[in-house]
Amino acid sequence: MVARARGETVIQCLSLFLVIHFLVASANFFKPFNVTYDHRALIIDGHRRMLISGGIHYPRATPEMWPDLISKSKEGGVDVIQTYVFWNGHEPIRGQYFFEGRYDIVKFVKLVGANGLYLHLRIGPYVCAEWNFGGFPVWLRDIPGIVFRTDNAPFKEEMQRFVKRIVDLMREEMLFSWQGGPIIMLQIENEYGDIEHSFGPGGKEYVKWAARMALGLRAGVPWVMCRQTDAPENIIDACNAYYCDGFKPNSQKKPMLWTEDWDGWFATWGGSLPHRPVEDLAFAVARFFERGGSFQNYYMYFGGTNFGRTAGGPFYITSYDYDAPIDEYGLLSEPKWGHLKDLHATIKLCEPALVAADSPQYIKLGSKQEAHVYRIDSHTDGLNSTWHESQSGCSAFLANIDECKAATLRFLGQSYTLPPWSVSILPDCRNAVFNTAKVTAQTSIKSVELDLSYLSNVSSLQQFMAQNEGSNMQTSWVTIKEPISVWSENNFTVEGILEHLNVTKDQSDYLWYFTRIYVSDEDIAFWEENKVRPAVTIDSIRDVFRVFINGQLAGSVIGRWDKVMQPVQFQKGYNDLVLLSQTVGLQNYGAFLEREGAGFKGQTKLTGFKDGDIDLSNLLWTYQVGLQGEYLKIYGQGNNEMVEWTDLTHDDIPSTFTWYKTYFDAPAGADPVALDLGSMGKGQAWVNGHHIGRYWTLVAPEDGCQRNCDYRGAYSSGKCTTNCGKPTQTWYHIPRSWLQESHNLLVIFEETGGNPLDISVKLRSAHVICAHVSENHYPPLQKWVRSDFIDGKISVKDMTPEMQLQCQDGHIISSIEFASYGTPQGSCQKFSRGNCHALNSLSVVAKACQGTNKCNVAISNAVFGGDPCRGIVKTLAVEARCVSSTKVGFSQY
Ligand code: GAL
Repeated sequence: MVARARGETVIQCLSLFLVIHFLVASANFFKPFNVTYDHRALIIDGHRRMLISGGIHYPRATPEMWPDLISKSKEGGVDVIQTYVFWNGHEPIRGQYFFEGRYDIVKFVKLVGANGLYLHLRIGPYVCAEWNFGGFPVWLRDIPGIVFRTDNAPFKEEMQRFVKRIVDLMREEMLFSWQGGPIIMLQIENEYGDIEHSFGPGGKEYVKWAARMALGLRAGVPWVMCRQTDAPENIIDACNAYYCDGFKPNSQKKPMLWTEDWDGWFATWGGSLPHRPVEDLAFAVARFFERGGSFQNYYMYFGGTNFGRTAGGPFYITSYDYDAPIDEYGLLSEPKWGHLKDLHATIKLCEPALVAADSPQYIKLGSKQEAHVYRIDSHTDGLNSTWHESQSGCSAFLANIDECKAATLRFLGQSYTLPPWSVSILPDCRNAVFNTAKVTAQTSIKSVELDLSYLSNVSSLQQFMAQNEGSNMQTSWVTIKEPISVWSENNFTVEGILEHLNVTKDQSDYLWYFTRIYVSDEDIAFWEENKVRPAVTIDSIRDVFRVFINGQLAGSVIGRWDKVMQPVQFQKGYNDLVLLSQTVGLQNYGAFLEREGAGFKGQTKLTGFKDGDIDLSNLLWTYQVGLQGEYLKIYGQGNNEMVEWTDLTHDDIPSTFTWYKTYFDAPAGADPVALDLGSMGKGQAWVNGHHIGRYWTLVAPEDGCQRNCDYRGAYSSGKCTTNCGKPTQTWYHIPRSWLQESHNLLVIFEETGGNPLDISVKLRSAHVICAHVSENHYPPLQKWVRSDFIDGKISVKDMTPEMQLQCQDGHIISSIEFASYGTPQGSCQKFSRGNCHALNSLSVVAKACQGTNKCNVAISNAVFGGDPCRGIVKTLAVEARCVSSTKVGFSQY
């Protein structure tokens, strides 16, 4: 039975693969169509469209993850995928282009098309995006006379060359809409309006030039500039913000587009984790379409991971989860994904009316309540007595923008109650099928856990845990020290303090500065007598600075152009003085990025000497870029054998500037894999030669997180944060495709001293799912089509709401922990029965759900054997556990 099911799945997967492969290979996804626009919307193949877009940045996932991310986006009701183009990934060396692996943009765009979705390509090529150097290749700053993002010939030449290259590539691959491809829209520059004033008249010229240049490439689809109030005539200016319903484009001929709806936010090392409540996000989206918007993009729909050294700065973490509807690992974030899916389905029901009307009719319903009505027969002015005849051609949004109070509104003869800060959507101007604050989608509680499925009984589990100290690395670790300072012939010596990026060209985070300092008897006597210590004093540093005296770490400072005064202890005679400058992601936002640089700025001195300060810029320094281990690529499959590792013992822990290596087997099944580096300090990690990113267990401040996250009122990134007092990131995604079944090479470079014996490989899954649906909620919207409303086909039976529960792929519901049909209280993992409770609640839900991946339970008395409490609105609340079906399969044998 199990074998048959598996066989079927393999055949299904294979045929799906062949279909997608065929579609991708044939590269003709649509019948060629034109894209234009008017003041109301993008016009696709002659029709105005209301479009939902989802941001996915291709290099923040692996090509193996792309198909699933795209299909989950489609299932969530997304019409368009939006991505930036990452210049520094595509042109790492000037003139040498790279379009493979995670940078195979052509493959990504084709996959989007093969799934029947459109694509918005934001070429930039400045992209911001919390991406290293905002997407600029670091070599760009070395071009003589260059000034980025202004009317500067060397910059414009490079920018044009790259933008043209991308447009040409898309055209050659037949990826524009008029060629039958998915690309419906492009973007030039990115939020330039925010910094334009820094460049004076040059900024204004540059905007005009960028627009002319882009249009001159004859890509045949519209271009946008976001946050660009002076965008020229043929370029659409678009809004980026948490709310864009009040946005007005700079011309009445342009539609209202929202290129970045920030559905969460990014995190910094040592910071807490932002969350945007879905009730507020849905409110913002509904308000946008209510007030005339026509294209809305979630930034991000899937955030993913800043693999390698791609994270930008200052101090952006490796995870780019963003609290997006699809999480960093590719799993659904619920209820965000599901609630937005319901919203999208509702907006689709309204689309005919939304596109028919040139603008909505506004009706004030209260001091903080209003309605916007769209009618297919837009020539009928006002809502006169004939509206009943044409109601099917009518859609309305009712908004209660009061942050505190619910409101009961009368609209077209009917009464509607709206929670605070919410919008109800009426696809037929009568049935409020969706309210942004009423979430019926399930909640999923995810965790990252050890995979111990291969241990069949409790005693071997205990034995295993005792032996392995909580880690599931089964082999031992070996180690090797990284030399402090100069380690090779390829160093050089010059007088003076050189700028960090001028030396490293960002080939590594690390730059070593080495010199010798002579200390006399008189200096030592002076320090003792005056009870003072000498100090390394630097006007300004970023991101991390460390000083070593005679091979010993004497101090570290983290800063963003902050002053350093690090006391040090010298011996008599010659002392080795080593300064280490480290980057943690290059600056990605602001004007004049080419001048930002990294490392040290201003004066660099040794203070506190008897004869006065020593100006370090007058000394001879030997420079060494990077780590020896990086240079030898000891994290790679073959190369790691080139150095002499020694066995790691407890006595070696903790140790700074040390490499560690071990092997591990991939956990069974298909769940996403995470590396738990909570026992480590700061460094970088590689699996089978793939750089999984920087890690750092820097802890977020104790306060600043809210116990309860109230969705009501305007959101800002500090509003609903979690994780205070804990390391910002402890789990690091290892994409499945980077793993083989066994003997996976894990190499860690640790700077500050952690315990590798406690590193473990874990599985991420949603192990608890909950839902809470009432009788007075609407049935699943995906069932409806517009004609049901128009033809009045909706019957009372169809109105029965339903609870839908689903475990992630490959998991089934193993048990129902709580079920109550009646008046249950509380929220997920804290449900309790109320006064009214149907006694068979648990058995009804268990019968429908247990052992399945997905189940639906109708919210009706009939299902629960009668009405448990007449005259009271009943709710069904359920909490279920999900387990991997392969585990269940094993235990059955
Ligand atoms: C925007 C920018 C994006 C991203 C976002 C914050 O201003 O355009 O690229 O940086 O902020 O996540």
